[in-house]
Parts: sequence; C-alpha cells; structure tokens
Amino acid sequence: MSEYILVTGGAGYIGSHTVIELINNGYKVVVVDNLCNSSYDAIARVEFITKQKVDFFDVDLRDLESLNKVFDKFPIKGVIHFAALKAVGESTKIPLAYYDNNIGGTITLLTAMQKHEVKTIVFSSSATVYGDATRFENMIPIPEHCPNDPTNPYGKTKFMIEHILKDIYGADNQWQTAILRYFNPIGAHPSGLLGEDPLGIPNNLLPYLAQVAIGRREKLSIFGNDYDSHDGTPIRDYIHVVDLAKGHIAALNYLKNLNGGLYREWNLGTGNGSTVFDVYHAFCKAVGKELPYEVVGRRGGDVLNLTANATRANTELKWEAKLTIEDACKDLWKWTTENPFGFNIDNYEWKVFSDDKEDYRNRLHTVKYDNFEVSFANRGAIIQKIVKNGINVVCGFDEPSRYIEKSNPFFGTTVGRVANRIGHSKFELNGKTYTLESNESSNTLHGGLDGYDKQYFFGPVAKQFKKDDKIINTFEFNYVDKDGHNGFPGDVECTIKYTVDDSSVAIEFVGEHLKDSPVEETIINLTNHSYFNISNTKSTDGTVIKAITNKQLEVNDELLPTGKFVPTHTDITKPTTLSADCAFDYCFVVDGNGSGIDTRDSELKQVIEATHPNSNIKFIAETTDPSFQLYTGIGINTPGFEPRSGFCIENARFVDAINHKEWANQVIVKKGQSYGSKVKYSFV
Ligand code: NAD
Ligand code: WQD
Repeated sequence: MSEYILVTGGAGYIGSHTVIELINNGYKVVVVDNLCNSSYDAIARVEFITKQKVDFFDVDLRDLESLNKVFDKFPIKGVIHFAALKAVGESTKIPLAYYDNNIGGTITLLTAMQKHEVKTIVFSSSATVYGDATRFENMIPIPEHCPNDPTNPYGKTKFMIEHILKDIYGADNQWQTAILRYFNPIGAHPSGLLGEDPLGIPNNLLPYLAQVAIGRREKLSIFGNDYDSHDGTPIRDYIHVVDLAKGHIAALNYLKNLNGGLYREWNLGTGNGSTVFDVYHAFCKAVGKELPYEVVGRRGGDVLNLTANATRANTELKWEAKLTIEDACKDLWKWTTENPFGFNIDNYEWKVFSDDKEDYRNRLHTVKYDNFEVSFANRGAIIQKIVKNGINVVCGFDEPSRYIEKSNPFFGTTVGRVANRIGHSKFELNGKTYTLESNESSNTLHGGLDGYDKQYFFGPVAKQFKKDDKIINTFEFNYVDKDGHNGFPGDVECTIKYTVDDSSVAIEFVGEHLKDSPVEETIINLTNHSYFNISNTKSTDGTVIKAITNKQLEVNDELLPTGKFVPTHTDITKPTTLSADCAFDYCFVVDGNGSGIDTRDSELKQVIEATHPNSNIKFIAETTDPSFQLYTGIGINTPGFEPRSGFCIENARFVDAINHKEWANQVIVKKGQSYGSKVKYSFV
C-alpha cells in the first residue's frame, strides 16, 4: 500500500502520534501545518522514530493557493484533518479567531479536496460537542446519538464543521466522512521523543501536573471536590494518545472497505471514567512522589461526567483503547523528564540548509554558548561550523550547494559505511566475496561513491540537560543503510550523537547491524571528517601538534597497510610544527592490539593536541578507537580553501582491517550487534 494521506495539523500533539501510526501501517504521509501551536522538531522526531521521510509543508490551511499546490504535487487519497485552535478558555475570549481558523481553514481544505476529487476525510471532533450530557437521563456513558449542545466557541466550531461535512455528504454521497469525537487524550509516545508541548500555562490537567512535577509550577489547583463522584472531583474518559492515534487508522481502513460514501460519527474513548484524584494518584505513582495540590473552586463550564460509550467504535471500527491511565502517566513522565521544555531549547535554532527553502531534508542546526557555537546539518550529519572565541575552527561552506560539489574534500562529514580504504575494493565475509566500486585508483575510499557523506540523516533529536551546572546539548541523527546499498551487505542503522557543551563537541558513533538483516555479518567503520584550523587564517601552517603515538601503519605504494607498524618520518610525540615540508596522511596506532567491535565503554584517550601562535585556543582530540588518521589537508582543492587549510583526526579502526586477518574483528559486526566508538574534540 502506498497511498498518500494528507495530515493537516500533523506537527501537533495528536497529529504527530497519528503520523507514526500511519507510517507503521504502510501509508505515505504529507503534513500541512503552519506551526502556530507546534514545532517542526516533532516531524523531525517522527522521521527519526520511523526512519521514513515525511513530506512537510509550512502552510496555513486558509491559504487555498498553497494548499492546492500540495494537492497537485501528491496523489492524495484521503485527509485526516487535525489543524485547529483548541483552547476552550481562549475561544471564549477571541471567538472570531477560532471561527476564522477552524471553520475558515476547513472550508479552504474542503474546497481544495473538491477540486482534486479527494472525497475521504477523517475529522478531529470532540466530546465537547455534547456539552453537558448529564442534562439528560441515561446519557452517561455518552453515545453518539446524544444531542449536541456545545457551550463554548471552540466546541461550536467542531459542531459546525460536523454539519458542513454532513451537508457536503448530503450533496454528494460519494464522500466518505468519519467524524471522530475524542474524549480526553493524555500521555505521550513511549519512546519519550514525542508528547504534548503546550505554550504558556497549560489548561489541561495532566500537562499542568507534569509541569508541577518538574518544578515549573508550584502546585496543581483542583477545580472543585464537591461533585457527585466517589471522591468529589469530576469524571472524564482519559485515553492514551497512542490508542487515539490508532483509532484513525481503524477509521481509514473502515472507509477504505466501504463500497460507497458515508457520513458517520464515532466516539474515541475508553468507556471508563476516572476522577481528577484518580489521575492525580496515577501520575504521582509514575513520578514516585506526592505532588503539591490545592482544592479550589469549580472551574466555569466544567461538568460532572464526560465518559464515552465507545461501543460503536469497538464494534464497527474493530478498535478499542488498550492502554491504561498508568501507561499514559508513565509515558508522560518519560517525555517530561527527557524534554522538560518540550521541543523548545533556548540556545538552539535551525533553518533550512538548501537552495530550495521547502526542502526540509537538509537543515542547519546551531547551538550557541557565550564563546562557543556549533552547527550541524542533516546531509552527512556534518559538523558545518565550530566557532570558538569568534574564530571559525573547522572548514565548512556557508552555501549548501558547495557540499554537493565534487571538489568537497569530505568537509565535516560522517564517513561510512567503512571509513578509509578498502584495498582493491574487495573483501571476503562468510565465504562470500564482495566487490565494491573503486573511487580512489583501485581502492574504495570513505564508503565509496554513495557513502554516508551523501545521505540525508533523520533527526536530529535535540535535547538539553544540566550536568554539574553545565548546560549540555545533544543532537542525534540516524540513517538506515540497506543491504546491497553501495555494495555492502546487511541492513545497518547508523546513529550519530553529538554532545556539545561550552567548549567541546563529542561524537558517539553507533552502527547497529539490524536483527532482521538478510546476512549474518557485515563490516562497519565510522568516523568524522572535520578539518580543524585554530590559526585564524586560511592555512594551518605553524600549528604545533603533539600526539600520543609515533607509530603508524606501514603502507605500500597503493597506500594499503602492509600489516607492520613503523615509526613515522617525524616524531610527533614531540611538539611538531605543521608546514608544507612537515605534512601527514597516516594512520597512527593508539593501541597495537586493535579493539573489539564496540569501544564506547572504553576510556576516552587523549591522542593529539594542537596549538597555534595566532590564537590562544588549544585543540584536544580524545577517542576510544585504536587508531586515527592524521591528515594535514595537502590535497584540499576547493574554492575558498587551500592545501593545508585544515587538518583531520579521523578516529577509526585500522585501515583496510577487513583484509587483514588479525585486524578483521575490529570491523566485522554480527547480526544484532552494534559497532560503537567515541571521539571528543575540545577547544580550551
Ligand atoms: P495541537 O494544537 O497540538 O495540534 C493542532 C495543529 O494544527 C498544530 O500543530 C497547529 O500548529 C496546527 N494548526 C492550527 N491551525 C492551523 C492552520 N490554520 N493551518 C495549519 N495548521 C494549523 O492540538 P491537538 O491536541 O493535537 O489537537 C488536534 C485536533 O484534535 C484539533 O482539531 C483539536 O481540536 C482536536 N481535539 C483535541 C483534543 C485534546 O484534548 N487535545 C480533544 C478533542 C479534540
Ligand atoms: C480535566 C479535569 C478539570 C486542570 C478539555 C476540553 C475538551 C477536550 C479535552 C478538546 C476537569 C480538572 C484541570 C487543572 C483541574 N479538548 N482540572 N485542574 O475540561 O475535561 O476537556 O480537553 O476538544 O473539549 O474541554 O479537560 O484536562 O482541562 O480537565 O482540576 O489545572 O481536570 O476540572 O475536571 P476537560 P481538562
């Protein structure tokens, strides 16, 4: 199945969870969202979780022209329509904005759908359309036939949109319309990567309570304990957002199996009511402590009981909520502790890093400290810039197109699947010979013609935390390299995690040979190819380096290791000044015994330091790897830079390890195993 579903409001809370379920169920997804109450980071995280591209357009639903362009571009089969303003209290203050956005946006959407003959829609309605169902006898739990009487402008927009959709169906009964009336969605994605990120003071119970738990709010106000329930607080039907998201797939599948059109409403709830105190206790349990609260007066507009009768959805859609309030509280707490400020990180910003401003695949992510700034981009999961004390200390391009040029000497990029050389572009694994394409005389260099430097990594998952009073930012990118791609066997998920503080960038490299890969073994060797320059000029000449080792892998005329270790021409364990006459392109041996496949638990070892008389910056490189290639950039030949504009410290396994029996275990990764290593660059 490769049907495109347009998701309006797909960057929002329920929308982002639904996009994941759509992808998990084989749908292709296009998201339209003006980000008025959300962040593109939610989409980046959806891609990171699903490892699938999500086409995204920053479009206001009321902009018919832009919307039509999206419909022109994709063969859209159906729409899930989340986009709306949704705060009940706010809607009573700015009703016109609610009618304009929610109803105006829906009319534009339906106009575009009509033009493109897309007649399938799943609409996010709400239990709020019922108003106070306790005004009738026998209407709790609330069935779909309960009369509607919304009590606020927000609820009225939902009510009116339902009627608009009903009238459209009345005029053309080819339309397939599913009205989903949600009860109280709660919780977050179990990965801890997605959740609700309310702007300002949260209105809803659990988002407020979560902010109390992490210390952003003093205490919870409980709005009345004089209702007719077991503990005096009102009763609601709280439903885990992942269950709710799955309800949309059930509705789409139901519509797909119909012969003709339909207009029908379904409640999405659990069918169980819980009081405010029930939820409070469940969340305190997840947090592991009692949270402060105070019972205050009733909130205007609240009613005693809003519990769904979900039988219609259970029987017709064959869907039911499976997760509990406890599950939701646990997932919400994970999301909250791992993202205390939601998607919003103070010292971090991003912009599209492509000549096509709608191409969100490549973005530039910048984190800023007082005297330190680092930028990463998705293509190649590169380090594009590191600025220390106002000095740019790595080579990089400001124009994204420059990275695609042939003359780019791997500036700042992640290198894989196998860094450095594979001799004669051949290796043997499990009795099978693999032949790669050669891209450097008869060898394969840095992963070959379509290496990781050319791939668009998903993410980053950007997070921030405090450690010993230091603010730490992490940025995690991932990319799945499929069996056979570029000649390599096995499915590998490569994850590059950058950790930045006020003076360093550390990288964790992971290559997981996936469990259901078609082969038993593959080879991996990952590194980063940043060119450092602390001279504050275009040349690194005059840089003084000092390394932990003077031992290098001896190479033959084809630049392939002979298997021997030899001392290098200049003893770099002593301070050595780089120049045209003192240049290097050798693999230096930190540990002659090599290493296992995952070195992440080993201690970071300082392997090299560098200073330059022009700056007072000291550069230090530490790694867990058994070797590093020191390359002083003699071959740089790209406009704006010159030979020796930067030097590289490529931490990695021994060059061509796979073709040396005694080294091969450094790079062979069995199915289910992970390759791992770390490097840290400090500027002090
Ligand atoms: P949300 O605010 O997180 O998501 C709504 C998304 O729509 C946001 O990303 C926002 O930026 C976008 N949006 C709003 N107006 C837009 C416009 N004019 N053009 C383009 N994008 C626009 O809210 P949510 O909780 O995910 O709710 C999703 C839907 O479910 C809404 O329709 C809401 O009314 C409905 N709903 C929510 C709840 C709830 O408690 N969360 C309950 C019942 C129904
Ligand atoms: C739940 C219970 C409060 C906050 C709203 C919309 C509804 C739907 C879902 C969109 C109530 C109590 C809350 C607090 C509290 N949204 N509470 N202290 O009002 O049931 O439903 O969200 O369609 O339309 O009205 O949800 O989370 O605000 O409240 O005591 O700080 O928690 O009184 O009993 P509600 P809620």
